[in-house]
Amino acid sequence: MLVLGIESSCDETAAAVVRDGTFLLSNVIASQIDVHSKYGGVVPEIASRKHIEAIIPVILQALAEAKVTLDDIEGIAVTRGPGLIGSILIGLSVAKSIAFAKGLPFVGVNHLEGHIAAVFLDDKKPDFPFVALVVSGGHTSIYFVRDFENFIILGQTRDDAAGEALDKAAKMLDLGYPGGIVIDRLAKNGSADYVKFPRPMKNSMDFSFSGLKTSLLTYIKNRKTPVEEEEIPHIAASYQESIVDVLVEKTLRAAEDYSLERVVVSGGVAANSRLRDTFYKEGKDKGIEIFIPPAILCTDNAAMIAVVGDNLLRKGRKDHFDLNAVSRWPLELLGKA
Ligand code: KG4
Ligand code: ZN
Repeated sequence: MLVLGIESSCDETAAAVVRDGTFLLSNVIASQIDVHSKYGGVVPEIASRKHIEAIIPVILQALAEAKVTLDDIEGIAVTRGPGLIGSILIGLSVAKSIAFAKGLPFVGVNHLEGHIAAVFLDDKKPDFPFVALVVSGGHTSIYFVRDFENFIILGQTRDDAAGEALDKAAKMLDLGYPGGIVIDRLAKNGSADYVKFPRPMKNSMDFSFSGLKTSLLTYIKNRKTPVEEEEIPHIAASYQESIVDVLVEKTLRAAEDYSLERVVVSGGVAANSRLRDTFYKEGKDKGIEIFIPPAILCTDNAAMIAVVGDNLLRKGRKDHFDLNAVSRWPLELLGKA
């Protein structure tokens, strides 16, 4: 089945064409980072306006790069939530319009399920069941994944998401927005032992990153001298290591507790090189197979939405034109809501 995927839940306008839920024919992503960076974060109203400008050109480009036309498309998959409601509505309205005009079925997809499903675009695909860590700017959760649409939550953040903790640290260190990728790059030349940051909630499967953020702030404020330029890579590496440590430790512990030998890691922060390396290394030591999509499929994209859509459409699911966007949509409620 040839599926057109559409994603607009945050600050990326994206469209992709995927065949049979595994073959990526095109993956177009228009980022709005430049417009939001001067505000130090995503401004929802601006995001919606930018989605309106970008969505049609992005879809046309995705079709052109896949060398297909709308006449070849057999179904449409679009992010329905969770995310910024005004942004989601742009993609959802366009998806409905195309579905109506071309007489095609369309399905609303959960963005978090999309992040996990991105792994099926890789050559190496996991069998169900597996443990999944979704780690992004808005979410940090560990799931027991029985199948598509069948998730049990095992742990989640009680405050900030890991991506948010990285972005806020970058802001404190004056590194710009979004900071995750900058910290990743700088940390490569730093020593992770430079500052001893805490590893919170060691014995729980839940996460907490707000204390870590405060300890960075305290570290910066309590110094007798300002942070020197050459110290930044070391501070970044130390801070990043604290996050990587808890993400890897808790996720692999979940796999061991539930006797699962496969772990999927996805979401924007899964693009982080230190997190990827540590998962592969520790997974190997523990006999757990690690599946992480390529970085471009970890951050927001529409190909992952098309993968979930393919599965739903194949089962005969077809949403109605009154389908609404949702800002909150916990994965464990899928198939039950
Ligand atoms: O999945 P995503 O693109 O959007 C959400 O659904 O939130 O994730 C964005 C998050 C941001 O916090 C960004 O700083 C982080 O992913 N991120 C990274 C890297 N690339 C993106 N964090 C660490 N290292 C990276 N290379
Ligand atoms: Zn995302």
